[in-house]
Amino acid sequence: MKPIIAITRPINEFINPLIESDKYDIRIFKENRPPRKGELTKIVEGTDVIISLLTDNIDSDVMNAAGTNLKLVANYAVGFDNIDLKTATNKGIAVTNTPDASSQAVAEHTMALILAAAKRIVESDEYFRAGKYKFWDPKLFLGVQLGGKTLGIVGCGRIGNLVAQYCYHGLGMKILYNDICKNHDLERLTHAYQTSLKKLLEMSDVISLHVPLLPSTRHMIGKQEFAKMKKSAIFINTARGAIVDEKALIDILKDKKIFAAGIDVVEDESKLNPELKKLDNIIITPHIASATTEARMEMGKMVIQNIEAVLNNKVPPGLVNIEIRSKFQEE
Ligand code: GLV
Ligand code: GLV
Repeated sequence: MKPIIAITRPINEFINPLIESDKYDIRIFKENRPPRKGELTKIVEGTDVIISLLTDNIDSDVMNAAGTNLKLVANYAVGFDNIDLKTATNKGIAVTNTPDASSQAVAEHTMALILAAAKRIVESDEYFRAGKYKFWDPKLFLGVQLGGKTLGIVGCGRIGNLVAQYCYHGLGMKILYNDICKNHDLERLTHAYQTSLKKLLEMSDVISLHVPLLPSTRHMIGKQEFAKMKKSAIFINTARGAIVDEKALIDILKDKKIFAAGIDVVEDESKLNPELKKLDNIIITPHIASATTEARMEMGKMVIQNIEAVLNNKVPPGLVNIEIRSKFQEE
């Protein structure tokens, strides 16, 4: 019998070799929207592999609905906070992500938000379109210069690393970072300093988040943290919305206690908070930081590599729950 693979959205163009292969029995949720819970539990029934998107809550109900054949939940994303890792690990189900496939796209989007916030690109575009611009004025849309200023990277993994390098080499910024690990390469390449979160928040002109959403990072930036930032600070979040206490972000922007924010993620993606919508000192993009054709193709390639490894009993390159690594043959 061929292994059964359920895919929760029609993303055929990004995983074409898998779709065209005759080695698998493939079931695709055909709608261009996330499946509802009942639809999700139905499509995964009896599968060996689930290819999930970050909009799918893969909890114990879904894993139980899949049944005992389920070997792998292959998330088409670098984040994996949509999957109940504990249950997967207890059941011996591998969970994989697509590390590095989208790092460059996300880092480039981060740069776009930093520059757009510093230069007030969105606000001034709207102003011009609205017919409000009449003549050149030296005080119109004053922004901040980034060269020579300090970037604070919170979470210095692959994406944070790239952002630090772009800002150092491209803009001549100084780099601070906060991470549990020392990043010797980054320190060598950009003269970056590792520092406490408190110091980083106090000293940085641009603060950018690049940590995964975990119980320990939920609301790690809240009222107290925003209060430590400079009045001229630019705050960027391209990681996950729930890392930030959104109410505190709204308050700090309303009171103009920081210069601006640029975010690609919000706490509740199903509905944009009306308070956020009212603010003109924030740029909000709809979770598209990794949306380049190159990244989407690369993510697809990694999903296929993860699936082929698991079905051949090898350690998948994107294994997240490393506790079950010993289940597989080492290369
Ligand atoms: C996007 O947010 C991802 O996790 O890949
Ligand atoms: C601006 O357009 C300048 O000429 O300084």
